[in-house]
Amino acid sequence: MSRVVVLISGRGSNMQALIAAGVPLSAVISNRPEAAGLEIARKAGVATETVDHRLYADRGSFDAALATRIDHHAPDLVVLAGFMRILGVDFVNRYAGRLMNIHPSLLPAFTGLDTHRRALQAGCKIHGCTVHLVTPELDHGPIIAQAAVPVLDDDDEGSLAARVLAQEHRLLPAAVRWYLAGRLSVDRLRVGLAGSPHHAGNLRVPEVA
Ligand code: GRF
Repeated sequence: MSRVVVLISGRGSNMQALIAAGVPLSAVISNRPEAAGLEIARKAGVATETVDHRLYADRGSFDAALATRIDHHAPDLVVLAGFMRILGVDFVNRYAGRLMNIHPSLLPAFTGLDTHRRALQAGCKIHGCTVHLVTPELDHGPIIAQAAVPVLDDDDEGSLAARVLAQEHRLLPAAVRWYLAGRLSVDRLRVGLAGSPHHAGNLRVPEVA
């Protein structure tokens, strides 16, 4: 059976979507003991751990402690699902090719934080989310899948975030399943999905509701 470790920092709704989709999780690890997602995981019978970043003097020692906890589970895949700490180069390289992130924008637009506000300010008509493999440059790794949503005239940050989040909850479980099934191939920044009838199975463009 595949081993998946999920890293969270807060609410944990993407992690919950993985559990709901039947993805077997070896452990959920949070850098914040108060993360609401930890309780959700526990209730679902998933082992939880905390590596509190505030207890470490610097990024390197936190990353090393986190890696020790992760390696204990010998995961095939590590998923950053709302994990809000930047990870150092050594950490990222240690999990090269098996570290996945969900980001709430259509990368490479809007890397970093406040993506929904920035998409609204920029006047985007389309926004969305991206699942990608993590490389040392923040939010720049090979794109596995994207889902697009419309930006409506009366949207505010909250309504747009909710529309994107609904797609995140579809996209992340799909990407994890493809990964675990060995269907993904990576050529530099381009990711192929084997067995996709239209060769575009990793693009989701839901209809306007
Ligand atoms: C999601 O929008 C994710 O894309 C971003 O942070 C949010 C986390 O939400 N990185 P949740 O903790 O999964 O509910």
